[in-house]
Amino acid sequence: MSVFYKKRFAPLLLLACTGAYSCSSSEQAAEETPTSLKEAAEGDFYIGAALNYDQVYGREEEAVALIKEEFNTISPENMLKMGPIHPEQNVYNFEPADKYVAFGEENDMFTIGHTLVWHSQAPDWIFVDKEGNTVGRDTLLQRMEDHIATVAGRYKGKIDGWDVVNEALEDDGSLRQTKWLEIIGEEYLQKAFEFAKEADPEAELYYNDYSLWKPAKREAAVHLVKNLQEKGIQVDGVGMQGHYGIDYPSLEDIEASINAFADLGVKVMITELDVDLLPNPSNRQGADIAMTFEPQEGFNPYAEGLPDSVQQKLTRRYADLFELFHKHRDKISRVTFWGVADKHSWLNDWPMEGRRSYPLLFDRDYQPKPAYEAVMEAVSE
Ligand code: G3I
Repeated sequence: MSVFYKKRFAPLLLLACTGAYSCSSSEQAAEETPTSLKEAAEGDFYIGAALNYDQVYGREEEAVALIKEEFNTISPENMLKMGPIHPEQNVYNFEPADKYVAFGEENDMFTIGHTLVWHSQAPDWIFVDKEGNTVGRDTLLQRMEDHIATVAGRYKGKIDGWDVVNEALEDDGSLRQTKWLEIIGEEYLQKAFEFAKEADPEAELYYNDYSLWKPAKREAAVHLVKNLQEKGIQVDGVGMQGHYGIDYPSLEDIEASINAFADLGVKVMITELDVDLLPNPSNRQGADIAMTFEPQEGFNPYAEGLPDSVQQKLTRRYADLFELFHKHRDKISRVTFWGVADKHSWLNDWPMEGRRSYPLLFDRDYQPKPAYEAVMEAVSE
């Protein structure tokens, strides 16, 4: 029986089984058959999605219903980033984040905070003084501490895990030359985790980055975490952003990184999962939001819809990925999709604006795609 059949008719079979009727083995099977991603993945890992503003404000009823039905963890796509939540030195915009955290509490979600320290969407004011001059090390450290104490402190006991530092590495394994590094030095990494621990001693603390499947970046992330561990800094997990293509990275490279991070004794999470089906300029980077391109002819091939042959490739890719995640369910604590349905994906506008992308499990009408069934089968093995 296909997952769709189970999903649609299991409740009816269940009703029959509890009535005056004896149940056949297939009807008994319906009782145990998972009817959602979170049920199917129950023995493996948390499974969830990044939420946008419309969803946390309840403006997308169908999306909200889908999130409640299918997921048991949520991440904030934008509302907890430093710029949106702390736009000016003494101004915080807590409302969207409050609604996000409340949604997580009301629906018993494993709630993620994303992200405390990042080079992108950091507010301009944080690196300069009133005269516009770059601030010194101590001033920036104090500002980082104030931000983390205020934000992570506000959601203490409500946010279960924080992306403390996001994308501190370049693809070649060097430290990304950010204002944080330039002004404070490498110690900014340690300080960020220390401040987060002080703000919420119970929250899990993560390092999160993209393209961690690349050997040089993998090794650099291992070194980064080991360095912190040797200083007695709490690091509970590594978030491997899953911004993957239809035919890259290899499962071998992903698996090598799952093992390398697990060997550190920390949790491994597949964060920000999506599968990009669209052709991209050859020099596109993994998920460097700053890497954008003018729309070009030939890069939006599925504007009118996704050919079945490509839908099948997407299904196969998700099946392969989740068979791998299921194999390493002892190491992986969470898998988060970067969006709920295709129309929500950042990939509709990155690295070129105005395209039609199909990277997730639910289509633009919130219906499960064939890849959904493949994922259900893979984690239900
Ligand atoms: O909210 C403002 C809105 O008020 C304004 O009118 C509009 C036009 O300027 O911008 C809106 O903010 C946008 C925001 O998304 C919310 O839609 C920002 O410009 C835009 O840059 C931002 O893009 C996000 C991007 O991170 C940069 O923060 C994407 O939605 C989000 O999917 C993407 O996610 C990142 C992860 O956080 C880190 N890993 C990579 C991943 C993909 O880049």
